[in-house]
Amino acid sequence: MQDFITLEQIDEAAAVVRERTAHSPRIGMILGSGLGELANLVEEADVIPASEIPNWPKSTVAGHEGRLVIGKLAGQTVLVMQGRSHYYEGYSMSQITMPVRVMQRLGVEMLFVTNAAGAIDPDFVPGDVMILTDHISLLAMAGMNPLRGPNLEEFGVRFPDMSQPYDRGLQKLAREAALEANVPVREGVYICLAGPSYESPADLRFLRTIGADAVGMSTVPETIVARHGGTRVLGISGISNKANLDGSTATTHEEVLEAGKVIVPKLKAILMGVLRRL
Ligand code: HPA
Repeated sequence: MQDFITLEQIDEAAAVVRERTAHSPRIGMILGSGLGELANLVEEADVIPASEIPNWPKSTVAGHEGRLVIGKLAGQTVLVMQGRSHYYEGYSMSQITMPVRVMQRLGVEMLFVTNAAGAIDPDFVPGDVMILTDHISLLAMAGMNPLRGPNLEEFGVRFPDMSQPYDRGLQKLAREAALEANVPVREGVYICLAGPSYESPADLRFLRTIGADAVGMSTVPETIVARHGGTRVLGISGISNKANLDGSTATTHEEVLEAGKVIVPKLKAILMGVLRRL
């Protein structure tokens, strides 16, 4: 496992992407578990399998397809990452966030990041969609910050501000888009754990106590790296399961993928609406 990705490795990957597309994407999108089918809507698409990009972490999980789709969506030029890699697969934090670095080198200004998450807020139900207003970077607090290691000065400062991880302007556009599409949305704080095991009931009560509304295994590392490089972030969770605070039911990956089917049309409406408003 390589702890720290270098600028040379990032640029090697960016060069391959540039060779394979004439598009200059302004918006990057990372689509989480079961949510990848949005990529099928991209027009004039150039598709690059992740396996053909040097230094790119390859996803090992069902539901994460691992390709880049670059083209037009709702009038914008987008780079969609269908499938992402996770810390639990054994990659370093620097490796899993390397695609965000490549996007930044390609000129991406905004990152839309989606994930499947478990509900901690007792009012949330599977199929709900939550706009991220903030996150708790529990892993980063414990030392697993993707910015640990030599600072890549080309992207940002050693001690980056994190006062607005999720861009308020983009949140507003997401609310407006949801309203227009008649999609009810939740809002709240997302927390990223390492996984891959789901939470115990006591874990969940702890997460609720510290202020989290939804829990997952991604997004926060990508957001931290995006913000370090000045990229504006919109984060949306698809709530795939009720967190099991009393231990009465089990959580499965199948359930997470199944809920994706209800969530995809909602996410699609919101993200397309935001793109149209940019
Ligand atoms: N916990 C952690 N990650 C998840 C969950 C969950 O309940 N659902 C989807 N991803």
